[in-house]
Amino acid sequence: MSQNPVPCSAAAETLPHRESQGSDLALFFRKFLEKGRTISSAVPSSRTMALKMLSAIDFDRPSTIIELGAGTGAITEHIVDRLRPHHRFVAVENDADFVAVLRRRFPKQMILHADATRLDEPLAHLGTASVRYILCGLPTPALPKRGVVRLARWAQDVLEPDGVFLQLTVVPMIYKPFYDRLFGHVRFQMVWRNFPPGGVYHCRFAS
Ligand SMILES: C[S@@+](CC[C@H](N)C(=O)[O-])C[C@H]1O[C@@H](n2cnc3c(N)ncnc32)[C@H](O)[C@@H]1O
Repeated sequence: MSQNPVPCSAAAETLPHRESQGSDLALFFRKFLEKGRTISSAVPSSRTMALKMLSAIDFDRPSTIIELGAGTGAITEHIVDRLRPHHRFVAVENDADFVAVLRRRFPKQMILHADATRLDEPLAHLGTASVRYILCGLPTPALPKRGVVRLARWAQDVLEPDGVFLQLTVVPMIYKPFYDRLFGHVRFQMVWRNFPPGGVYHCRFAS
C-alpha cells in the first residue's frame, strides 16, 4: 500500500481534473481488455451515473466519504467538486496505472493504492474509524468470495448507523439478491444514461 504524501484536503481542486480525458479513456479500455471482470466496464461511468451515486450524500453535513475502485476518476471528480472543509475523502484503487491518473487529476486528495477488500490497516493509519458514505465502483459480485466477506465485514464495522453503501452496477437488478443478503436493506435506482445502462444500489445494514 502506498499513499499521497499530501494529507487529504477538503479544499476544492483548482480543476486539473477537467482537462481532456482522451488518453484516460484509452487506458480504461485497454485495462478492460486486459483484466475483464475486475474492471467490469469498457468505459468509465457517465456523469449521470456519478450524480446518481452522489444523490444520497448530504454535503452540508460533516462526514467521511470513501470511494472504492475509483478507476480514472469519473465519480471522484464530482465528489471533489463538492467537498468542503468539514469532509474527509479517501479514494481507493488497486491498479497502479489508474492510481497514477488519479494522483495527477486530484493532487490534493488522499488516493490510496490498496486492495479495497483489505482496508482495516490503511484506514487505521489514516485515523479513519467511522465512515458515513462508501461509494463502491468495485465489481463486487465478481470479487473472490473471501474478499466480499472482508469487504462486507469492514463496511459493517466502519459505517455509521445512518451510513450508506452506494454500489454502482452495469447489470441492472441482476445482483439485487446478492446485495440483499450482504446488507439487509437495499434499494435500486436505474440509470439509463450510462454505457451500458446500469444503476445504483443504496445499501444499509439492518440494525
Ligand atoms: C467498474 S470500474 C469503476 C471505475 C470508476 N469508479 C468509474 O465509475 O468509472 C472498477 C474499478 O475497481 C477497481 N478494482 C477492482 N478490484 C479492486 C480491488 N480489490 N481494490 C481496489 N480497486 C479495485 C478496478 O481497477 C477499476 O478501476
